[in-house]
Amino acid sequence: MAGRAVPPYRRRVAQHTHDGIDWAARVAAARRTAELEAEALRVVARRLVRPLPDNPTVYDVGCGVGAMSVPLAEALAARGGGTLVLVDAVPEVLDAATSAARSLGALTVKPVLADLASEDPAGFGKPADLVWASRVVHHLPDQLKAVKRLVGALAPGGWLALAEGGLEGRMLPWDLGVGEPGLQDRLAAARAEWFCTMREGIPGAVQLPVGWNVALGDAGLGEISAFSFVIDHPAPAKQVVRDWAVERLGWLAEVCGPRLHASDRAALRRLLNPRDSEFLGARDDVFMLMTDTVHMGRKP
Ligand SMILES: C[S@@+](CC[C@H](N)C(=O)[O-])C[C@H]1O[C@@H](n2cnc3c(N)ncnc32)[C@H](O)[C@@H]1O
Repeated sequence: MAGRAVPPYRRRVAQHTHDGIDWAARVAAARRTAELEAEALRVVARRLVRPLPDNPTVYDVGCGVGAMSVPLAEALAARGGGTLVLVDAVPEVLDAATSAARSLGALTVKPVLADLASEDPAGFGKPADLVWASRVVHHLPDQLKAVKRLVGALAPGGWLALAEGGLEGRMLPWDLGVGEPGLQDRLAAARAEWFCTMREGIPGAVQLPVGWNVALGDAGLGEISAFSFVIDHPAPAKQVVRDWAVERLGWLAEVCGPRLHASDRAALRRLLNPRDSEFLGARDDVFMLMTDTVHMGRKP
């Protein structure tokens, strides 16, 4: 493994979170990803709100720019309204999620600017009938403690839906004709190493040596289950998918570059150069295939 120099994405000190990531700088990229996830997340949101009581209170914690806040708002509006509490530590992303969710009307949207590592979501509003937490718990120092706090925010009978990833997303064909075949898999391995470094770099980080279903049980939930969903934009893909792929590959090159062989770094430079004949954004064989697993548990 190459040395652990501080990669560029960490050089701007992020003031709001513990992971050293500059989330505010990623708003445009996150919006594009949200656009591509919207169709799949709408189905998930409808499924999650179906069993809730009338006029429910739903939290989207670590909401980001609102990839799920909007589908949740739509699903709540379609069943007569409710309250949507949006929580994030970064003002820029919280503002984006709030305006997107509010634009739908028909429900109360309450933004809460808070650090989930130190602030207890039980104090953010009415007890929740549903807490949705996607890809945020792994950015917190003590993940089990964080899950327990989310459980503390639930009303009796309320549901926690935790999405912490699924299979590694893919966008590249096996043989790109530039560099060695299999770049996607080497990027995935390097990203997994980066992820460990990111966790290790969180001050006070505690390991969670079990799967999420066990963690949900340890946090006091019952009726534990899980389901997975797919985000599938096959090739030939529309331009927004190609733009997403360029942005995603650029990010992977940034965080994984030092861990890759020089020939892979050279291939990445060509794929990311708009003036190169192999520029990813102009290729017809780029796609987006991602899966995510939602772990569910209910408060007795
Ligand atoms: C990977 S993004 C996920 C966004 C969204 N939930 C989704 O799945 O698209 C992680 C989000 O968690 C937020 N976050 C990270 N650490 C946090 C903390 N300590 N307290 C609150 N939010 C935090 C970041 O600002 C970012 O918006």
